[in-house]
Amino acid sequence: LNLDSPDPRVRREAEILVRQQVQWASHIGTSAILFDVPATGPIVNTARVVNSALGMMTYANAWVRIRLAPAPGSDEDPWARWNTIRTLCSHNPKLSAVLDISGDIPASPLLRRWFAEPVKVLAIHADAFLENAKGFPVLGKKIQAFIREFSQFGVQFIVTSPAEVQHSAGGLAGYQQYLRHLYRSRPELDVVDRFASGYHDYLQSPLQPLMDNLESATYEVFEKDPIKYREYERAVYHALMDRVPADSDIVTVIMVVGAGRGPLVERSLKAAEAAGRKVRVYAVEKNPNAIVTLKNRKEDEWGDRVTVVHCDMRYWEAPEKTDILVSELLGSFGDNELSPECLDGAQRFLKADGISIPSSYTAYVTPVSSTKLHNEVMSYDDLEHVETPYVVKFRAVHELAEPVAVWRFDHPDLGFQAPPGTSTFNAHNTRYACASFVIEQDATLHGIAGYFESTLYKDI
Ligand SMILES: C[S@@+](CC[C@H](N)C(=O)[O-])C[C@H]1O[C@@H](n2cnc3c(N)ncnc32)[C@H](O)[C@@H]1O
Repeated sequence: LNLDSPDPRVRREAEILVRQQVQWASHIGTSAILFDVPATGPIVNTARVVNSALGMMTYANAWVRIRLAPAPGSDEDPWARWNTIRTLCSHNPKLSAVLDISGDIPASPLLRRWFAEPVKVLAIHADAFLENAKGFPVLGKKIQAFIREFSQFGVQFIVTSPAEVQHSAGGLAGYQQYLRHLYRSRPELDVVDRFASGYHDYLQSPLQPLMDNLESATYEVFEKDPIKYREYERAVYHALMDRVPADSDIVTVIMVVGAGRGPLVERSLKAAEAAGRKVRVYAVEKNPNAIVTLKNRKEDEWGDRVTVVHCDMRYWEAPEKTDILVSELLGSFGDNELSPECLDGAQRFLKADGISIPSSYTAYVTPVSSTKLHNEVMSYDDLEHVETPYVVKFRAVHELAEPVAVWRFDHPDLGFQAPPGTSTFNAHNTRYACASFVIEQDATLHGIAGYFESTLYKDI
């Protein structure tokens, strides 16, 4: 079928045939209809026909078969062809790609673009397989790596094999066994991915812990973080070791501001024990519900070593100044949960030579492509959701360039003088940045990703 034939009669007949087949597929209730896309030449009418088929299909999805590598002798980028089709189909969420893998595959930076696309199937031709010493089909290293990475997205596999290119051993089952082996031998999830499992590529509304009172279940999720609390404990430990000589009777004051249900209080006490330093800890929290847990923990676990204070840190009249101010109000972008504003208030009760943990945080941005996230945001059909800085644990996302640092906050902020209530009170926390990126390949930019890096204490 040549839907883009220059001959109007051929084109028209192809369209009629596709229309009949789509109607039949809808009638019998198939879950997907596969459209073959020519590897070269015009495809605009093909895209138009796919788009109109999408409008005719109530339950079925449209799968578009695209070559992974350019056709022999052609330099047309297959991803660009897919991009034309999905753009002309307005990023329809029922449109997915089937990647045809045959022979050699392109260089890795070009392949990575597909990780951000809705690829449902990897269709591997038998001629893409090599033969091992025993004659069984195996894949080359580059294809193996590509397939392993894709298997985390739950793709299906199709092996196409005309009788004459089958390998000497294993028969058709040999391909299936090999792919199953590849799937099973994929690398274990690392500790961060295990923690984030179930949250990948979902738009989570950003928390507003200053304005809202977080729920216990939300604290429970934070508290499973496998890295953060360990690093805070290390930071407090080293701060205590640096600040107080061994065998000293000095009692170091630690204030945990925004203590939540108390994990950083617990870690500060542990750090003090490990360092062999005496401490007096204040747990300051404005959420009245979290205060209940803090008070219970004081009674059951911490005793006199900890004073629980129910107060907004910005307005607290502390009974003494602190040596170490511990907080974690960093959100996902360093400043989006108002850490700078809250710590401006809290630094009133930090000693002149006191230590803030964290001591600084830097925000980074990078352009990204992600069809899934784009479709989810667009499904709201309004501007508000497009402009919301969502929290997302990325998986099916392609970062188009190296992240660029845009701004940084340091604590304590020694230059901060403006008295509360004046119009310029918060001016020192305003940031503006203009960033440039070099994107090496054609790509669709769906949004900007933001990250932060924080220095808790010295090199931690
Ligand atoms: C991101 S949570 C961190 C909780 C806990 N420290 C942890 O690491 O699991 C931030 C906490 O700070 C509290 N908080 C935010 N702004 C505050 C303020 N101005 N004064 C006191 N507590 C505040 C919130 O209620 C919340 O419990």
